[in-house]
Amino acid sequence: MTFGIIIHGGAGVLRTHERLDDYRKFLGVALKEGYKVLEEGGDSLQAVIKAIYVMEECGAFNAGVGCSLTVDGYAELDAGLMDGSELSVGAVASLRNVRHPIVAAHLVMTKTDHVLLVGDGALRILEALGVKQDTSLVTQEKLQRLNELKKEWLESSNKFPKNKALFSKLGTVGAIALDKNGKISAGVSTGGYWLKLSGRVGDSPIAGAGFYADSSIGGAVATGIGEYAIRTSLCKSVVEFMAHGETPMDAVKQGVEMITKRFGSGTIGLIALNKKGEYGYHYNTEGMGRGVLTSEMKQPILGVFREDDT
Ligand code: GLY
Repeated sequence: MTFGIIIHGGAGVLRTHERLDDYRKFLGVALKEGYKVLEEGGDSLQAVIKAIYVMEECGAFNAGVGCSLTVDGYAELDAGLMDGSELSVGAVASLRNVRHPIVAAHLVMTKTDHVLLVGDGALRILEALGVKQDTSLVTQEKLQRLNELKKEWLESSNKFPKNKALFSKLGTVGAIALDKNGKISAGVSTGGYWLKLSGRVGDSPIAGAGFYADSSIGGAVATGIGEYAIRTSLCKSVVEFMAHGETPMDAVKQGVEMITKRFGSGTIGLIALNKKGEYGYHYNTEGMGRGVLTSEMKQPILGVFREDDT
C-alpha cells in the first residue's frame, strides 16, 4: 500500500523572505519527520501534526513562533485538522499566544464534542487540557515590523486594509498524509496575515475552506487569502474534483484557476493527495514552499519557486 505526505509552507512573495534558507531547510525537516511517522506504521493524523509542529516551532513560517500580528499587536492563531476516515474535525480560531495551535486543534477533535473553539472560551478549555499561553510569540522585532506596516498603510490612500494589499509575504503551513492503512488526514496552521483585524478568522480553521480530507477520495489544503477560500469552499471543491476523476494535480490547478478568475492572481496556493498516493500542488503567487515524499518515490520533491521544479 502506497503511503506518503505532502506539505506546504505558505504561498506568497517569498524571494524577499529574510529567512529563506531556514524556510527551505525546515520544509525538508518537516517533510522528513512527517514521513518517518508513516514509515514506522504511524497514523496519518500524527504525521500531519508532526510536520506542522516542526513548521510552527522553527519560526521561519507564518505559524506558531513565526506568526504575524494583528493590527492591534496580538498573536491570534488559527488551525484545523481533519481525519478523513472518521470525517472528524478539530479546529481553533483567534487563539492568542498559543505556540502550537495544531496540538490545540487535535485536543478539540479528541477531547470535546465540538469541531471549532474560538477565542477566550477556547483558551479556558485548552488551559484545562494543559495548553499554556506563550507571550514570547509577540516580540519587539515583530512589533517594530507592525509599526512600519501600519505607517505604510496610513500613508497610502487605502484607509481600510484590503486583503490583497495585506497578504504580501507568506500564508500558512499545511500537510496531507496517507498512511499504510489508507487513512488520509489533512491539517493547517496559521497566524493569518499582518495587519488583519483582531478577531478576524481565515479559512484555516474552516473545514471545506482551508482543509478537507476524505479517505475514500483524497485531501486538500489551501494557503493564501482565506476569505477567498471560504467564499468558494475551496478545499471541499478540490476534493470533489478528485471524486469526479481528476488527478490531484489537475484538481489543484482547477482550484487555483477558479480563484484567479474570480479574485485575481497573487491570492492562493493549494496542495492535494489522493487515496492512491498521487499528489498535486499549484499556486498563483510568486512562490509556495512545498515538499512531497511517498513510498513510490526515490527522493523527495522540495521547492519554493517555479524554477525549482525544472
Ligand atoms: N490562509 C490563511 C488565512 O487567510 O488566514
